[in-house]
Amino acid sequence: LCLVLAAPLRALEEEPVSELRISYEGSKLLKVTAPSDEKKEALRTLEDTEGVEVWMTIAANSSTMDVLVKPESADKVKEFLDENGLQFDVVIDDLQAAIDAENPSPSPEEMEELEGRKGHRMTWHSYHRLADIHGFLDYLAQTYPQLVSVETIGNSIEGRPLKVVKISGQPGSPAIWLDGGIHAREWISPASVTYIISELVENRDAHGEAVKNIDWYILPVVNPDGYEYSHRSDRLWRKNRRASGAGRCAGTDLNRNFDYKWGGAGASKEPCKEIYAGSGPFSEPETYVLSNFIQSKAGTVKGYVSFHSYGQYILHPWGYARAYPSDHADLSNVGRKIANAMYQAGGASYTVGGAAATLYPASGGSDDWARGTAGIKYTYTIELRDRGFFGFILPAQYIIPTGREALAAVKTLAVAVSEL
Ligand code: ARG
Ligand code: ZN
Repeated sequence: LCLVLAAPLRALEEEPVSELRISYEGSKLLKVTAPSDEKKEALRTLEDTEGVEVWMTIAANSSTMDVLVKPESADKVKEFLDENGLQFDVVIDDLQAAIDAENPSPSPEEMEELEGRKGHRMTWHSYHRLADIHGFLDYLAQTYPQLVSVETIGNSIEGRPLKVVKISGQPGSPAIWLDGGIHAREWISPASVTYIISELVENRDAHGEAVKNIDWYILPVVNPDGYEYSHRSDRLWRKNRRASGAGRCAGTDLNRNFDYKWGGAGASKEPCKEIYAGSGPFSEPETYVLSNFIQSKAGTVKGYVSFHSYGQYILHPWGYARAYPSDHADLSNVGRKIANAMYQAGGASYTVGGAAATLYPASGGSDDWARGTAGIKYTYTIELRDRGFFGFILPAQYIIPTGREALAAVKTLAVAVSEL
């Protein structure tokens, strides 16, 4: 205990002595098929089973659900599924093996290239640590001072900077906000958002006029503590790293912590739950700081996209209940244009709809706040690839195709905003 107390509060890239790396050896990912009426019941039973986690992307209208099963619970779960006549496929037989294969270290050629580089270390051939991502943003600000600036808008609960990059349009341009990494384990999100940044800056002329007439504000890693923790210790960590005392569960789900319908359906008051909403609305610095920054630009921000994974959905408000704003048709039309553009760019199909109606109700989300409180017309949550074959463990070779889809989405949004 003394050792822990004496340790520095924060050792950024070091592994704390007391921290273990969690292994998912022998954990299996099952795709369970259940007809809709039986699904809810089966879902409830499985969620209450020790050693079982239902990955949270089961669409309301889909008949499958993705279920992660620890080895010691496998027999029990199989028995339950068989008894109830529920069919399933083993999609991943050993999750740890999938994790080990997901993010290969750079090849010798790539290593050599990286050694020779002066500016930054991002490649989009692998998932990078926070230091590389932040180094990339700082590099852009230094290299393109007229176009790019980086502002630390606040700090995470463990003290890491929340870095927003601004890519400037023309004087008087409307603004679009993009964020990634609200959920730590969704690595494809920060990877795709940094891909967007790189294209909007370093390949600026390839993407048409609309993107040049927007002020882009982009926070690629909303949850830097969770992101680092998912690299160092637990690949499947979702929440932030709010501590809650010895022996108690850590972390608040940042996408349940926003001050709009906080604590309603699809959010929990129980700190051990993955959807713990926090002790109150905006109890977490990450959400509070983000919301203050957007409010400070109020009136100019006309588009908001939060990138998550997985499932391939383009979701618009509302998320707290199966209801829609009065301009539902506009959100839906632009959503469908985004889906078409994403398909053209990368080949994956994305489903468009209201967040609660299409996926499941979840209150206190950033999107509902962006629309309901900040009044941003075109507000979306985009769930990137895939549809549950790798799930959160999407191999690094998919970063570029998924990044292209994400870029196509925001280009389409830029056109819609410019026509407002
Ligand atoms: N997968 C996201 C989550 O669970 C979906 C959020 C959609 N938005 C919402 N307000 N429910 O947080
Ligand atoms: Zn998410």
